[in-house]
Amino acid sequence: MARIFSGIQPTGIAHLGNYLGAIQNWVALQEGNESIYCLVDLHAITVWQDPEALRAQTRTNAALLIACGIDPDHSILFHQSAVHAHARLAWIFNCVARFGWLSRMTQFKDKAGKDREAVSTGLFVYPNLMAADILAYHATEVPVGDDQSQHLELANDIAQKFNHDYRTEFFPAIHPRIMNSTARIMSLRDGTKKMSKSDTSDQSRINLTDDNDTIAQKIRRAKTDPADLPDHPEKLETRPEARNLVGIFAALANVSPAEVLREHGNQGFGHLKERLTELVITKLTPIREETLRLAGDSTHIDQILQAGAVRAAAIANPIVAQAERLVGLLPAA
Ligand code: TYM
Repeated sequence: MARIFSGIQPTGIAHLGNYLGAIQNWVALQEGNESIYCLVDLHAITVWQDPEALRAQTRTNAALLIACGIDPDHSILFHQSAVHAHARLAWIFNCVARFGWLSRMTQFKDKAGKDREAVSTGLFVYPNLMAADILAYHATEVPVGDDQSQHLELANDIAQKFNHDYRTEFFPAIHPRIMNSTARIMSLRDGTKKMSKSDTSDQSRINLTDDNDTIAQKIRRAKTDPADLPDHPEKLETRPEARNLVGIFAALANVSPAEVLREHGNQGFGHLKERLTELVITKLTPIREETLRLAGDSTHIDQILQAGAVRAAAIANPIVAQAERLVGLLPAA
């Protein structure tokens, strides 16, 4: 039995990229493992969040994860700020990680853009908090999409440097669990950009609570190229939008891209888009309905998150207390 940890930012609404790249793997990994899933609200505030919207979205995304199949009686489901061990260990890691390491993080460079002077310092040290999230539980398996792999390498560097500096074997190595075929779902408007909550165009993504008309319209308008679909996946290499739609189709239908092209190759995109719309609607309708039902009872959601936080703290507190002792901090009174 392995200990699994993963997190999602409770900003906006989780989208199909989050689902195919991470959440469906979280659901599958519950079986036979100890799984801990976290709504990372401390990560969310590294960029400005409206306080009421953040609170509401934390609850909605908790409901969404349960609707997707996370069982809060089995998995530990909680929000990050409720367990102080994350912030305590993150501070120690701020003092272990090197400025140069963080400067090389591509996600920081992308998010900061040209105006690095103006972004929060939290955004810069974001990967240290992520390392703390995982290592506060001595979790070793971390299911994520492809965009998080550099952060997980950094988490391993931090763990190794901590172990080296304090002459210990305290922190274990972390193994990314990345599902290759769905690790990078791309924007519906630009096949070279990943599907993202922070994209200003809502047309670029399918939110897991979109209604059927919205789903149909987004897929109808999804960018394509003028050529027919090819008959072989290799020919998708230079066609990012076609590759993305075929990849999403394959993931939802549980078949290979080659099989999708066997049926839809040598034709325009019309039929593929129609069938894809049906597949997305079939997948998302029960998730949307269950999310709306659960989110209607925010007291119940809060109870689930509080119970999760108690279970999470019971694991993380002793581990982080031991890390503090190794560093030479006096024990907490
Ligand atoms: P976040 O909230 O951006 O995304 C949550 C998960 O969804 C995956 N993902 C995607 N997968 C495929 N295609 C896409 N277009 C796509 N967009 C997002 C992400 O890879 C992620 O697995 N820093 C993390 C949250 C985090 C975390 C952690 C993860 C905080 N602490 C500790 C693992 C372990 C993030 O911002 O994910």
